[in-house]
Amino acid sequence: MSGERRGFFITFEGPDGCGKSTQARLLVAWLKEQGFDAVHTFEPGGTALGRELRRLLLDEGAPVSPVAEMLLMAADRAQHVEEVIRPALARGAVVVSERFVDSSIVYQGAGLGLPEEQIRQVNAVATGGLAPQLTFFLDLDPAHAFSKEGGASDRIEGRGLQFQRAVWTAYHRLLEREPDRWVRIPVAGRPVEDVQADVRRAVLERLKVAGGARGEAAP
Ligand code: TMP
Repeated sequence: MSGERRGFFITFEGPDGCGKSTQARLLVAWLKEQGFDAVHTFEPGGTALGRELRRLLLDEGAPVSPVAEMLLMAADRAQHVEEVIRPALARGAVVVSERFVDSSIVYQGAGLGLPEEQIRQVNAVATGGLAPQLTFFLDLDPAHAFSKEGGASDRIEGRGLQFQRAVWTAYHRLLEREPDRWVRIPVAGRPVEDVQADVRRAVLERLKVAGGARGEAAP
């Protein structure tokens, strides 16, 4: 699948409240200033279908079983890949997504106890094998994230500290397994600008290594 790709695919991961949205937004604004075609997007909810699914997944409402939750996240992702990510990569853009398959591995896998292999198989169908070339882990101890945000604000955050700790530990395991794809950035107590400087440095390095990516991504 990567053979058809011309752009560059970056994802942000991390526990709830780690500052992904701010960092992704700042990165995309900066990439645009540098002349790149850059797209900021997110999961769940990056498409019209996704917005409906996000509401079902995160609002308190009808019960959602762990397998149903995993499949709905994958459905959101399938639409997102088809409608937003692949077309942008095909025209040579840098795509910056808040969350992707790794979130399902850690939240529905480590958090809810579903087998990782099952989640990978379902997501291989959802993504057609598309994977990010660079993934940031914004590392914030979940206890810190919770105190900063003043507690839970949606159904998944409402699962509490033990769940969030399982998620955080699982992220660290993924990093160990694929050190070339992941860049860990500690965020606790650091100004947004410092974190963003680390993000930009890593992106520049990777775009250089990817060769041609800048030429492809720039207008
Ligand atoms: P957000 O707060 O980053 O917008 O994400 C919404 C919540 O959805 C967050 O608690 C993480 C969760 N989530 C999963 O559990 N599995 C997934 O595959 C994705 C994309 C998000």
